[in-house]
Amino acid sequence: MLSYPEFRNKTVFMTGIGGAMGAKIAEHFVEAGSTVIGTDINISRITPLASELTEKGPGKCIARKLDVTNDDETRRVVDETASGFGPIDILINCAGVSSMIKIIDMDDKDWDLNFDVNSKGVFHVSKYVARNMIENGTKGKIVSIASMAGKLAAPYLVHYSASKFAVVGFTQGLALELAEHHINVNCVCPAWVKTEMQDREVVWEGRIRGMEPEEVRDGYVKMTPLGRLGQPEDVARLVCFLASDQAEFMTGQAVNITGGALLI
Ligand SMILES: NC(=O)c1ccc[n+]([C@@H]2O[C@H](COP(=O)([O-])OP(=O)(O)OC[C@H]3O[C@@H](n4cnc5c(N)ncnc54)[C@H](O)[C@@H]3O)[C@@H](O)[C@H]2O)c1
Repeated sequence: MLSYPEFRNKTVFMTGIGGAMGAKIAEHFVEAGSTVIGTDINISRITPLASELTEKGPGKCIARKLDVTNDDETRRVVDETASGFGPIDILINCAGVSSMIKIIDMDDKDWDLNFDVNSKGVFHVSKYVARNMIENGTKGKIVSIASMAGKLAAPYLVHYSASKFAVVGFTQGLALELAEHHINVNCVCPAWVKTEMQDREVVWEGRIRGMEPEEVRDGYVKMTPLGRLGQPEDVARLVCFLASDQAEFMTGQAVNITGGALLI
């Protein structure tokens, strides 16, 4: 268990808790005594997760359906959270999508989905949460999950990479704009993390490269100096640090969590 006593009784708004990374981050906040408003487009998936986390306590997790591409729905869910659970202290943007496809085969649908969820979704949620933090004078923390692909592009992922570069740029601009309100804004850049997203990607990449999915995964390990895949826990620890008082003097950063796979 991580030790961040300052998370006790904090209201944490999260997107994408249905994935393994989001679920692990939510678990740490609930363990520390926070109230997590855990959202995802897939409500049936997160309802049992929220009950399970709340049962363990000492904090709680409330499941809410939120499609981050929908501006009106985002405003409504953020407003309901603030009126039901008090000012929002921490925002974690974790919702994301990916696909792997050659640029010559890519259509607008592939491009738009990646940008709508990964970039515009972060914009929507951050906008309404930042508004809530400013109105309440909350010295809040915003942490988004970008990607190693948001700093170094990869083939077959040009749309995903571009949408994550956007998250890094957005983080910098938002950090500068919110600094006068003492709201810290950072993002994290994981490499290859063992989640369902990765399970889908090794199949797609295998098809494109004529390899078995497990060969693709072994390749990820070989490209990682520390010699293993990332785990949701690795990312969760960094996210919690950036959301904590320990990171008080950090803002506008895009922090790698890659086992050494990316050094810049
Ligand atoms: N897994 C990796 O290797 C890796 C590496 C770098 C960055 N990331 C990023 O980490 C984050 C979490 O990824 P993951 O691996 O847990 O993926 P995942 O696919 O396992 O989980 C993503 C979650 O986002 C939700 N989601 C999708 N579209 C949504 C929408 N429109 N509105 C709300 N929720 C939506 C999904 O329902 C799912 O629960 C993503 O932003 C991803 O891009 C993942």
